[in-house]
Amino acid sequence: MKKIAIFVSGNGTNCENIIRHFAGSASVEVALVLSNKPEAFALERAKRLGVATAVVPKSQFNDPDTILPLLREARIDFIVLAGFLLMVPTFLVAEYEGRMLNIHPSLLPRHGGKGMYGRKVHEAVKNDGDNETGITIHRVSQVCDGGTIIAQFSTPVAPTDTVEDIEAKVHDLEKRHYPDVIEKALANV
Ligand code: GAR
Repeated sequence: MKKIAIFVSGNGTNCENIIRHFAGSASVEVALVLSNKPEAFALERAKRLGVATAVVPKSQFNDPDTILPLLREARIDFIVLAGFLLMVPTFLVAEYEGRMLNIHPSLLPRHGGKGMYGRKVHEAVKNDGDNETGITIHRVSQVCDGGTIIAQFSTPVAPTDTVEDIEAKVHDLEKRHYPDVIEKALANV
């Protein structure tokens, strides 16, 4: 059984989709949902679905003596970031090299980098008049949104689309594709 931890900071729609995708799997278990924010609704979703949760505040997230024992104790093989808004420290990127994925809600390299997350990304797509957007699933590296891209999926943007319309299209792509891409990546671990 391969064990996944999902790192979250907010609402957790992706987190819930991933948990539901692997529920009942004989080979993959979502064993932990970890948040830097105690108020993240993703934690509530995880608890309702019977998944263990942990809160590690930003002040402790860069401390190897906090985070590594927690992940070792839960025997975590693979980490999935799903709306997680802190940079992952170097020691953790190294420990989980090739075993950590992030999702970004645009077609990187467009609208990526520090400070670009969630709604801000969709606002940038709208402001720039882009005629398409999408999602990027990539490995996590030392560079914000800079790791190797393993999958991208796009959707058209109409001039009449609002920021909310764009966000809804992107969430739909995330729901359809992120769990499958994780499953395929896990097959190579
Ligand atoms: C998702 O759209 C995800 O791609 C994005 O945050 C949202 C979280 O939604 N991540 C980033 O912007 C990372 N730079 P969720 O909490 O409902 O899954």
